[in-house]
This record gives sequence, C-alpha cells and structure tokens, in this order.
Amino acid sequence: MGYDLPSRPRRNRKNAGVRALVRETALHTGDLIQPFFVHGGTADEPVESMPGCVRWTLDGLVQEAGEVHALGVPAVVLFPAIPEALKTSDAAECFNPDGLVPRAIKALKAAHPTLQVITDVALDPYNADGHDGIVRKSDAGVEILNDETVDVLCRQALCHARAGADIVAPSDMMDGRVGAIRDALDEAAHEGVSIMSYTAKYASAYYGPFRGALESAPKEGDKKTYQMDPANKREAVRELLADEEEGADIVMVKPAGPYLDVIAELREATTLPIAAYQVSGEYLMIKSASAAGWLDEAAVVMESLVGIKRAGADMILTYFARDVARRLAG
Ligand code: PBG
Repeated sequence: MGYDLPSRPRRNRKNAGVRALVRETALHTGDLIQPFFVHGGTADEPVESMPGCVRWTLDGLVQEAGEVHALGVPAVVLFPAIPEALKTSDAAECFNPDGLVPRAIKALKAAHPTLQVITDVALDPYNADGHDGIVRKSDAGVEILNDETVDVLCRQALCHARAGADIVAPSDMMDGRVGAIRDALDEAAHEGVSIMSYTAKYASAYYGPFRGALESAPKEGDKKTYQMDPANKREAVRELLADEEEGADIVMVKPAGPYLDVIAELREATTLPIAAYQVSGEYLMIKSASAAGWLDEAAVVMESLVGIKRAGADMILTYFARDVARRLAG
C-alpha cells in the first residue's frame, strides 16, 4: 500500500519529542535585550504611540529592570525622553554627567551589578532639530555634519562609560564614529567598554512609533543622508567592513523582520556577533493586530523572533523581551 518513498520528511515531525531533537534554532532568554524608555518625571507614564510600553521614572526603571533581569534577560538598552527645554542645536545635554542617562546607568548598576547596561549614542533626543547629528541650515535645507557630530558622540560615549555603561551603542550612522569612539574610550582607560554598532541601520518608516515615544522626530528633512536606503544590501557589507576595522564588538541590523536577508548576508561576512533590532513599528504591527483579535500575539512574537535568529542573529533587541522571558521560564 502506498507510495515507495524512502525519504519521508514528515518522520522528523511525527511528535514533539522528535521535533525537539531535530530543531535547528532555539530562542533563549539570554539572547534578549530589553529596550527601556526613561524620563525625568515623577510618575511612570504609558507611551501612547506604543501600547504596552512605559516611560519609566528612575525608580520605576530600576524596579522593572530588576524583574526583567531576574527572568534571565542579560541586558537592557536605555532611551531617554528629554524635556524640550534641554534640547539645543549643539545637543550638549547628551554629555552632561548629571543628565538623565548617566543617572539611570548609575542607579541600574548600583541595584543590579550583573545587568548589562547598553546606552544609545546619538543626538536625536537632545537635539533641537531632532536629527541624530549636528545640523547646519541653509536656503538649500538641512545638512547633517559628520565630523562635528562624531566629536560630540565621543563626548557622549565617554559620559556613559564614566557613569558605568557596559556597552555603548552608536545608532547615528555617521562615518568613522566607531573608530573615534573606540579611541576616545581607550584614551580614557575605558578599554573594557564594548561598542555595539548600529552597522546597517535603514532609513525606515518602522521607527515612527519610537519617535512618538520620545518626541524625537526630525523637525525638518529626513534621515536619508545618514541612515541606509532600504533597497541596499551590498552597502550593508561595506558598513560592516568599516565597523570591523574600526573595532566594533557587536554589529547590528535594524529593523529586523523586513531585513532578514541583510542579517543572513552579514552572518556570512563576519565572525562578530550580530544583533538585530525588532523596532517599534514591528512591535506595533503585532500588538495592534493582536488587540483586534486578528493574530495570536504570543505565537506570532515567538515566530518572529525565531525567524530573526534563524536568519543569523545572535541577540535581539525587542520590546517583547520581558513577555518572552516569562514565557520561556514556563
Ligand atoms: C535614534 C534611534 C531610533 C531608534 C533607535 N535609536 C530612531 C531613529 O533613528 O529615528 C528606533 C527604535 C525603534 O523604532 O524601535 N538614534
């Protein structure tokens, strides 16, 4: 009876035990990085543009990070909401040693010494213009100055290192910033501080809800002269080679889901660990469809993250980190 089929792939799917044995990709709590929004106010506030996310006070942040860490999540990344009054065209608040991020780093490291604290290095939360770099305006529009920006990024990274950051993550896409930051850290005896470079960060519409969370959208122009064109993949390898040469410890692809081919390409091209950022728009697509009853949130979240790992990512920044850690803990 039946066909003569010596190869029957379904045999390897016949029950949960066999499926576990042949499973090629596993998502671990240790792969996850939880992004946190933080503000200087006195109450934790829901982020309207990102249901389920919170702008934490320092106390709220320390408490929440402790819970996430206790679930096994090794690292968090901080994004500050800076009051409009502190935003200037030189973004000087970004290297204020008494600023929100240095205070948050110190509070987190004091309470949870083994938690890896990652900080975002870019000017947009501090810049009156909302751009990641220093802006020069003219009749022709806005120009984002590269080398002037890199000088400020070095001061920002040093400020974070002095406060105790374990990893600094330049997300600005200026040329040469990884090497300049590495030099600045090393000269100040912070050679132990790692650099997670946003290596292939695309000029993506998927960042919209995040900019709402921090009120950090550019006031004029867009980010296309520094963030990458979504149409390009070879250029991601070019950025990778530069970051490797300049001393990056971890390279990142962002967004994650729509750029799985880029993750796979970089996986082939480097021995460095690869991070992928499941960004705010990816989060919201799953959240909103689930809220409408159209998707099974828990299942889709797991599938989206396994897909990102299967493509070649070693670690994932995701707003779902806490939920997933809880699920993996059983
Ligand atoms: C800013 C920064 C952005 C994100 C992380 N760091 C936004 C941007 O580049 O405009 C986006 C994260 C997300 O959408 O979840 N340097």
